[in-house]
Amino acid sequence: NGQWRGIIEEYRDRLPVSDTTEVVTLREGGTPLVPAQVLSERTGCEVHLKVEGANPTGSFKDRGMTMAITRAKEEGAKAVICASTGNTSASAAAYAVRAGMVCAVLVPQGKIALGKMGQALVHGAKILQIDGNFDDCLTLARGLSDNYPVALVNSVNPVRIEGQKTAAFEIVDMLGDAPDIHVLPVGNAGNITAYWKGYQEYAADGLAAGTPRMWGFQASGSAPIVRGEVVKDPHTIATAIRIGNPASWQFAERARDESGGFIDEVTDRQILAAYRLLASQEGVFVEPASAASVAGLLKAAEEGRVDPGQKIVCTVTGNGLKDPDWAVAGAPQPVTVPIDADAAAEKLGLA
Ligand code: F0G
Repeated sequence: NGQWRGIIEEYRDRLPVSDTTEVVTLREGGTPLVPAQVLSERTGCEVHLKVEGANPTGSFKDRGMTMAITRAKEEGAKAVICASTGNTSASAAAYAVRAGMVCAVLVPQGKIALGKMGQALVHGAKILQIDGNFDDCLTLARGLSDNYPVALVNSVNPVRIEGQKTAAFEIVDMLGDAPDIHVLPVGNAGNITAYWKGYQEYAADGLAAGTPRMWGFQASGSAPIVRGEVVKDPHTIATAIRIGNPASWQFAERARDESGGFIDEVTDRQILAAYRLLASQEGVFVEPASAASVAGLLKAAEEGRVDPGQKIVCTVTGNGLKDPDWAVAGAPQPVTVPIDADAAAEKLGLA
């Protein structure tokens, strides 16, 4: 049949697996590339959204997790561990179920969205909350995997990056070439590293004429790469990217510099404005961290840094349903009406 087979089967020759590798998959990837009409008008460019919330667990993490869990299983691991701001733990928990493995997750207490916590719980992960931030969780996860029989599936595991680079392949396959600019939210900086690797590989093999400039955006309260120093107490409403010391910091700087791009910051206010614009004007519901890419594009356009006529892809990394609090907060309350057509019509402004 013609069903999308998941990123490992679709791009097997470009990934570190052998002919005999038994693949652990939920048929991740193959996500929509959606033309963004309003963003295109605002920027004078051709803007597309790579909608990664359409992955099986609702974020781009599934691309890396199919690789990480496939390899962990191949190497005989019985248990995996990750630190997470929520999405990695949801993904690891689901793929561990498929592989028959135990999954342990370390999350910052009170700082992960309810939907993501629900996913890890329902998939049966062992969850430890840490009185600290993501960076503390990652330090602990590394220590545990160094000293105990448990495989680390954070993006410091290089096969995670291998899986995530397939998003760049899909974009070039769909557009027929690389875009001029690729825009991403940046947290632990694995994804910008992965896209840059994917674009470079396709260009090197002649499957794209060139590579895009990579534009990354951190939240202002969690912008260590922009500031050039570790942020000890990171804060932002975009909890997914609330990270003060990104593991792939140097790789992100390399992607920025080699591509001729930049890494900048956007405020929580700008993130929420982009979040509402995406939902109310493009019909795409993402989580706040995902809107950082679009907020960044709009900021750059306002600053006159976006020449018209370019092809631009913004990755929107996670599904809005994971963190619906921000959709409800500040929105008008639904009104209650009797079971009466005239009364309903009046409230709807139809009468
Ligand atoms: N967007 C979302 C929705 C994320 O969950 C993350 C990272 C990012 C963007 C940033 O990607 O870290 O590769 O730069 N979430 C990780 C997690 C940290 O634990 O789920 P990055």
